[in-house]
Amino acid sequence: MRFSIAGGTRLSGTVRVSGAKNSVLKLMAMSLMANDQCVIRNVPRISDVETMKGVIEELGATVNWSGDTMMVTPPERLGTEAPEELVRGMRASIQVMGPLLAKVGEVHIVQPGGCSIGHRPIDFHLKGFRAMGAEVEERYGYVRARANRLKGATIYLDFPSVGATENLMAAGALAEGTTVICNAAREPEIVDQQNFLNLMGAKVRGAGTGQVIVEGVKELGGADYTVIPDRIEAGTMMVAAVITGGHVTVQDVEPEHLGFLIAKLREMGAGVEVSHNRIDCFADQPITGTTVRSMPYPGFATDLQPNIAALASTAVGCSVLIETIYSNRFHYLEEMRKMGAKVIIEQSTAVIKGVEKLTGASVTAPDLRGGAALVLCAMAADGNSIVDGVELIDRGYEEFERKLSGLGARITRIE
Ligand code: EPZ
Repeated sequence: MRFSIAGGTRLSGTVRVSGAKNSVLKLMAMSLMANDQCVIRNVPRISDVETMKGVIEELGATVNWSGDTMMVTPPERLGTEAPEELVRGMRASIQVMGPLLAKVGEVHIVQPGGCSIGHRPIDFHLKGFRAMGAEVEERYGYVRARANRLKGATIYLDFPSVGATENLMAAGALAEGTTVICNAAREPEIVDQQNFLNLMGAKVRGAGTGQVIVEGVKELGGADYTVIPDRIEAGTMMVAAVITGGHVTVQDVEPEHLGFLIAKLREMGAGVEVSHNRIDCFADQPITGTTVRSMPYPGFATDLQPNIAALASTAVGCSVLIETIYSNRFHYLEEMRKMGAKVIIEQSTAVIKGVEKLTGASVTAPDLRGGAALVLCAMAADGNSIVDGVELIDRGYEEFERKLSGLGARITRIE
């Protein structure tokens, strides 16, 4: 599947942000631990959510998804074998490990491999489960973990990993005693998970700080919960406004989750006006180059690094992007070169010399966020572009082309 994009339109208007992919996937996995039905609201229609729906259905859950509301009813007895094909297709499937281990005492899952953005092991997750008393075997590319009842433990993460923090919070929720996760990730999605778990009857505190404390309880009930807005989608729409020289209001957003991007865009010369649940973004003067170092939250999100690269490609002067989270997140820059971007890549650093105008070209999305950045470039470029590999963009952006068309972009999907 591909997008055909005619560049050169200034975007204008209002766009509503959907629910956060990187939160809802985890809440769906957490729902497996409940004894009653969980209702999750503001669920985006994206293919990663379809995949997680498949994963939890294979484990026995009944899922009803209507509009943006999803109801998850766990079965009497959950399965322990995570479906291999789906897990291979989406790394976030490993987030069922903590819930299964805590609820049924066993999980068998294929090791997720590296992916197009680099090496992504799960050693922190497994180290944490072991510290909680689980027996973890890694053989022939699979992981089997077992525990009669997990025991609370103090776990130090070598890096504030989002997924490990979430998996261990889930595991701790039904463990015996208290689990302390030190050097925990501080992302807003972790806070969302804490709020969801606590509605289910868990006792979690500290999310959003470097130390999360989970006092285990015996059982968890259902919850009715609304997912936070997707800050990465919001950020993409903000950059779309600026890169096309337009003026866009991004609605139903949580500005506090985007402090790093708001500051960076202002530094580059963009106009950004913030009110309680909306952000206005516009370009009324030349955009200048910058330096961006991706970091764990509240630092600059690695998932928005490709968006800033797109903006830097037509900014005045040079920009330096330093990627500190992933080993190989610059594939999309090779594609941007086809559109005339001037890029030098040296290991985890990219130097981008802004050009006056990109030119339309035929490019291929190498991954979700890189694909979105190529769409941004195509909208700003002279002439027509084809962006291939739209399936990857569909993993994380709900109705991307409909939302962009609503702002005036000339973008169509070619099946
Ligand atoms: C989450 O991935 C997001 N995915 C990613 O978004 C995001 O880029 C990432 O957090 C960082 O913000 C979901 O939430 C589904 P990590 P996650 O564990 O949890 C290393 C997107 O496009 N590490 O914080 O997998 C790891 O290799 C996706 O929406 C280990 O070494 O990220 C990486 O270098 C892409 N061992 C770093 O830590 C481990 O056991 C951060 O990974 C775990 C992680």
